[in-house]
Amino acid sequence: MQNSQLEIVAGPQELAVRAAQLFVDEAERAVRDRGRFTVALSGGSTPKRLYELLADPASEFVGRLAWDKVHFFWSDERHVPPDHADNNFRMVHEAMLAKVLVPSDNIHRIKSELADPAAAARDYEETLIAFFDSQLPSFDLMLLGLGEDAHTASIFPGMPELIETERLMASPWVEKMGTHRITMTMPLINASASVVFLVSGAGKSAALKHVVDGPIDTLKYPAQAVAPTHGSLTWLVDRSASM
Ligand code: 6PG
Repeated sequence: MQNSQLEIVAGPQELAVRAAQLFVDEAERAVRDRGRFTVALSGGSTPKRLYELLADPASEFVGRLAWDKVHFFWSDERHVPPDHADNNFRMVHEAMLAKVLVPSDNIHRIKSELADPAAAARDYEETLIAFFDSQLPSFDLMLLGLGEDAHTASIFPGMPELIETERLMASPWVEKMGTHRITMTMPLINASASVVFLVSGAGKSAALKHVVDGPIDTLKYPAQAVAPTHGSLTWLVDRSASM
């Protein structure tokens, strides 16, 4: 993989600390250079510890972030309302955003309460194009997770959305979950300046091996399609996931 690196840390807490260091370093650089920092947040459980650490008043990080200059987006969302237990925005709000002073205009959540997931995807696409004033927005930082089936964001094995080349957002039906998701597509993910995967736990080791070292088969291992066009790719992995 071009312009990519893999870092192995001891465990979940070290993963959160290393991710927080990367997050704050990139935020400081973006705010210094462009007056703002745009980040697409991953959902699921792995990044929650990172979000809690960034907002922890006892941490070295909370005071280093210019929270009023950070713009938060989501790489994907479940097709449930924002107050639903499965909602990624809710998870991030509880873990971090409710604890720090971020202007509401800086929080760009996916409108997953819309009855039509395709409308939610289109709405978010319009939001992104307007905010970035670009048909192909480039996030300063894109945080991603890895599923045990090598999915990332909400792009799962076998999905036609995997070969999407135009749209920025998609609203796939995920058979194994019996629900729609709203997700960023690979063209948008790969336009990022920096993509960072956070991978933790023995359950992810097989998927990680396939994605990083296995033969290229993006339909089977969607995370292999993450290859930033101009940006960097960093795998932050804890030891149990790297075994
Ligand atoms: C989601 C995520 C998804 C997640 C992986 C890993 O909405 O669930 O975007 O892609 O990153 O499924 O999830 P865990 O961190 O919970 O293992």
